[in-house]
Amino acid sequence: MHRLRRLRKSPALRELAAQVRLNLSNLVMPYFVSPGKKLRQPIKSLPGIFRLSEDELLKDVEGLKRSGINAIILFGIPRDKDDKATNAYDEKGIVQRAVASLKKNFPDLAVVSDVCLCGYTSHGHCGIIKAGHGLEVDNDETLKVLAKIALSHARAGADIVAPSSMMDGQVDAIRRGLDANGFEDTAIMGYSAKFASNFYGPFREAADSGMQFGDRKSYQMDFRNANEPLREIEADIQEGADIVMVKPALAYLDIIVRAKEKFNVPIAAYNVSGEYSMVKAYCQPPPRRGAAKAAKPETRSQKPEAEKELALEILTAIKRAGADIIISYWAKDAARWLK
Ligand code: PBG
Repeated sequence: MHRLRRLRKSPALRELAAQVRLNLSNLVMPYFVSPGKKLRQPIKSLPGIFRLSEDELLKDVEGLKRSGINAIILFGIPRDKDDKATNAYDEKGIVQRAVASLKKNFPDLAVVSDVCLCGYTSHGHCGIIKAGHGLEVDNDETLKVLAKIALSHARAGADIVAPSSMMDGQVDAIRRGLDANGFEDTAIMGYSAKFASNFYGPFREAADSGMQFGDRKSYQMDFRNANEPLREIEADIQEGADIVMVKPALAYLDIIVRAKEKFNVPIAAYNVSGEYSMVKAYCQPPPRRGAAKAAKPETRSQKPEAEKELALEILTAIKRAGADIIISYWAKDAARWLK
């Protein structure tokens, strides 16, 4: 009989034959930065993740770097919002200031900044809403704003700007804006294949970017489609994206595989908030009902190492599918787990 199990029999052989290994240098840790001082505010829907003021962010990133992770993606939570997202490109805005002090304190840290309007608009949409058109997002007006936001981030020192609004032509508009102002070396990571997903729920609480009306289906992709993301990625590469992203990751591994086969730029995958929170919820000990019958960890999910094992399996699967770069709320924990 032909034996398939020979190489699984001992840890040494399994190690020898393992094809995919997580590498800390490919992981990106997301951060939410808020105005204020000494602020470390837990986010209910994202256990273990906080909204941090700039001083706390610096402290946290110092620890992150020490653990072996050297890349972050930054989301700002501004004090004020309006219908034109003017705070998003304020040279003294929350992200701009945080980026500048991060780069001052950690010059070799890879800083990615999210470029979108949704955290800065009063209505919560990722673009400018057309006057008198009900719910329609004005693609081309939004491009101008995105280019301004990206430029302000580049001026602050961001290494990579990451447009996530799913407007057509956003990479091109940003590339032109950067080049015209001498920021030829600022890279672009396109959120190229971004689906209208139910897995973003916890993030919207974290970033306070929920919509006042409507949904994002008129600009984010329909999850029933597999050709569309490839066309979006192709367009972003033509427009000058240095890195393209598939988002979410876990329910979209097929898209990562296809993107990896088809294109020869680095592929990033965003292991999004809902994917993280689902595991957190699953691993939580059951609520104590009456102290007498204290819950003992009976099921697999309740063992202390369950979260670690699930998270590492998920991250490894995303890498196995073909992601070169993985953005994950587990990045910091993974550094500890992989030690
Ligand atoms: C902003 C943005 C979103 C996420 C990243 N950038 C939210 C959205 O599009 O609704 C989601 C990230 C996550 O869920 O972890 N446009």
